[in-house]
Amino acid sequence: MTLADVIIIISRDGGAFLSRWLHVVVGITWIGLLYYFNFVQVPAFAEMEAAARNNAVDKLASRALWWFRWAAVATLVTGIMILLFQKAGDTSQLFSGDYFKSTPGISIATGVLLALTMFLNVWLVIWPNQKKVIANARNVQAGGEPDPDAAAAGRKALLASRMNAIFSFTMLMFMVGTAHFFLPGKFKFAPSGSDRGIYWAIALIIWLVLELSALGVIGGTKPGGINVIFDTHKAALWTGFILVVVYYALFYVVLKA
Ligand code: HEM
Repeated sequence: MTLADVIIIISRDGGAFLSRWLHVVVGITWIGLLYYFNFVQVPAFAEMEAAARNNAVDKLASRALWWFRWAAVATLVTGIMILLFQKAGDTSQLFSGDYFKSTPGISIATGVLLALTMFLNVWLVIWPNQKKVIANARNVQAGGEPDPDAAAAGRKALLASRMNAIFSFTMLMFMVGTAHFFLPGKFKFAPSGSDRGIYWAIALIIWLVLELSALGVIGGTKPGGINVIFDTHKAALWTGFILVVVYYALFYVVLKA
């Protein structure tokens, strides 16, 4: 082994180590703030007087949202880095072209699908709508007229945020499960094409119906109906736990060895 080989191994293993550690740190930052918004801030704001709430939106929520959306970017970047480093460092066949057809590959692909959806909810729904809420709060504080669209914007952001809380539990099960739960032995290592087809058809339908509901495409944005899962943070918590059971059961029934 030459010095160049040693340097390559150290930087590759160091890169894998660093990206995994960073991924968990920034992932915690993102999801921790998501839980703060859902389980602390929204219920507290509902009890606050308008003036106090506007001040908190201006000074507190705007800062929390900065960490929230940039932690989401850092989580995505470090997640992609893990994929690249583990492929580069692989000496087995696991990360060859067929990785995403293996059970660990299907597990991480499901986790990444949910995490990417959450990322897009942050940047395309929550943040654009929260910008309107913050602008309105600042304008009202400065003595301006309230923006009539601010409440609807807040509602859209709330639905996407509760969707992200619901997805987060299942997403984390797959993130961690890839290396710890869904291992060869208990699960098929290389499932057949029809197993994969059944798994993805059901997994994608559940994901799509939920996300389209959060966006208001199914069931609109008003409370009740299918939106009952978003009506309170407790309903979102229960739906999130049930979703873990549903996805685990699907994975188990279709992909167990
Ligand atoms: C945004 C897109 C994301 C991508 C592309 C991504 C990608 C990955 C990858 C490739 C792994 C390694 C899986 C393995 O082979 O063991 C992983 C693990 C992990 N991810 Fe993510 N991830 C994302 C989002 C998140 C989020 C939002 C969190 C929230 C905390 C998170 C937390 C974790 C954890 C805890 C692990 C397990 C580390 C381990 O057991 O070694 N990820 N992720």
